Amino acid sequence: MHPAFATWEDPAESLESVENRIHDGVPKERLRTRAQAYVNTFARLFPWSLPGPGGRVMEIGSGLGYIMEAAVQKLNPSTVVGLDVSASMIENAKRRLARDGVETTALDFRLYDGVEIPYEDNSFDFVYSAATIQHIPKAYAYNLLFEIARVLKRAGFADLHFVSHSLLPDHLRLFPLKQECLRQIRNEVGHWHVFYSHEELLYVLLFGIEVGWISVQEENRSLWAIFRKDREVDFCNETTLTCQAGPLRCS
Ligand SMILES: C[S@@+](CC[C@H](N)C(=O)[O-])C[C@H]1O[C@@H](n2cnc3c(N)ncnc32)[C@H](O)[C@@H]1O
Repeated sequence: MHPAFATWEDPAESLESVENRIHDGVPKERLRTRAQAYVNTFARLFPWSLPGPGGRVMEIGSGLGYIMEAAVQKLNPSTVVGLDVSASMIENAKRRLARDGVETTALDFRLYDGVEIPYEDNSFDFVYSAATIQHIPKAYAYNLLFEIARVLKRAGFADLHFVSHSLLPDHLRLFPLKQECLRQIRNEVGHWHVFYSHEELLYVLLFGIEVGWISVQEENRSLWAIFRKDREVDFCNETTLTCQAGPLRCS
């Protein structure tokens, strides 16, 4: 397992300890509000990207399943798959859902190797990720974008949260850049941090992954990127259109 993934895998760690460790210091009583805020941000920035009731949805990096729970409430999907690289995280998510009495018929979890998403091409209406891609080494993250594009249905949407370079001034006070570099050079287990820019996401998604349509917005030092494979823009008016592959390029 890659050392950046191994930091999430600790079969001996208690649910309470994981709950404190992985949610950016947000107290336990606010974790549902935090999760709803992510889903609401996708809904506010890209309302037309949300699937209709009964959709097949996937979260990349599902942690303890709080955002999956919020997605079920907001989207009424048939399934939300929580895809994660950590078996112990998935076990703790199941424990957490049982502890909190959450109805789980629409929730499913799947372990994978961080490289190949174990689902067929064109099988999901909506794939989202929050507070996860910033911890994935960049080559794995770019590869993940290819994989997300592969499993998305043609008219489905991927809504993805990245951390912007504009967070660096605050972030570096807690995590000096030199330490971050050495951790990655030495392949040390730990929370790796990876940053993105608006321009990078546009170029990588349009010319590397070759998605059909993309929009990227920066807000609160996060980047919110949305894409779909289909080039037809039949879901929003032109004022919301940021970028389309093919003859029309980035604006
Ligand atoms: C900081 S937690 C966030 C969990 C959840 N998204 C939330 O915000 O409540 C990061 C999660 O991503 C998972 N993860 C790390 N690398 C991953 C990868 N390459 N693919 C999928 N999940 C990954 C970790 O195991 C962990 O569950």
